[in-house]
Amino acid sequence: MSISELAKTAQAMVAKGKGILAADESTGTIGKRFQSINVSNEEANRRAYRDMLFTAKGLGEQISGVILYEETLRQTAIDGTPFPQLLASKGIIPGIKVDTGAKDMALCPGETVTEGLDGLAGRCAEYVKLGARFAKWRAVITIGEKIPSASCIWANAHALARYAAICQEQGLVPIVEPEVLMDGDHTIERCQEITERALSAVFDALYNQRVVLEHMVLKPSMVIAGKSCPVQAGVSEVAERTLTVLKRMVPAAVPGVAFLSGGQSDELATAHLDAMNKLGAGALPWALTFSYGRALQQASLKAWRGAAANVDAGQGALSHRARMNSLAAIGQYRSDLEKK
Ligand code: 13P
Repeated sequence: MSISELAKTAQAMVAKGKGILAADESTGTIGKRFQSINVSNEEANRRAYRDMLFTAKGLGEQISGVILYEETLRQTAIDGTPFPQLLASKGIIPGIKVDTGAKDMALCPGETVTEGLDGLAGRCAEYVKLGARFAKWRAVITIGEKIPSASCIWANAHALARYAAICQEQGLVPIVEPEVLMDGDHTIERCQEITERALSAVFDALYNQRVVLEHMVLKPSMVIAGKSCPVQAGVSEVAERTLTVLKRMVPAAVPGVAFLSGGQSDELATAHLDAMNKLGAGALPWALTFSYGRALQQASLKAWRGAAANVDAGQGALSHRARMNSLAAIGQYRSDLEKK
């Protein structure tokens, strides 16, 4: 049986020791990041920042793919090469965020449903022409006293599955991202229960919409206590609980799981991934890797601060985090390597 292009792309996205750089912040979100370094949110600055990230030397050794925002997919790098082609020339697969955001959900106070299905097939066809080979859609599940509701979990699962089916038909590998937020004071046990429920609904919906599991990548959040919960679990408990949920809920046909960082500190996001790969050690049906936004970019953004003179420093910071997470993806990270 010949392996299809979509299967090959999905496998390449989670290849051994490689992970994904999520650089698909919308114009609003990148504005917030720029505010923290006093850089104005102009197209030229967004382009210069992404250029700094993507031209880091040797990035393709640890980064399999980069998720882009539509504006970046259409922009050229400073040397005039379109960004998707620049990435491809470094052996990095270009991807595209295709959802149009998490919007307040009718009759479900405090909850959101992610939009963007209308006209999606046509947009995907165009993104493929521009060089994209995979896509991302982020669903958001908030934990609170009486939420998430079943309505929210099922509406988001259905939308994720419809998106994934449309992507596969148009020739893009879908990253299916159901994020259970870290915001709140909930316990790790509650996060585990909700993550399990959300993933159960997502795989049910994927099956119903005929999505080919071999042609997708799952991007979940880790099982972690809420940010303001007074009891925070240690690294091994997070790893054990996350693996327990994944083993129960993720079919072996899925080639890989690439976690989001969700607001964890850079080093914790790396340590958690590493602990899971050490625990799993060759006995897991899927690859376990990273698809981090903040946990790959934070240090780089701070080192860059919008100045051309700081490009080397910014790239150095990104390369360091990419190397640390690449080691974590094979269970060979050690915290003392952070000092080097
Ligand atoms: P974080 O790693 O910053 O959570 O971002 C990943 C992402 O792509 C969220 O959609």
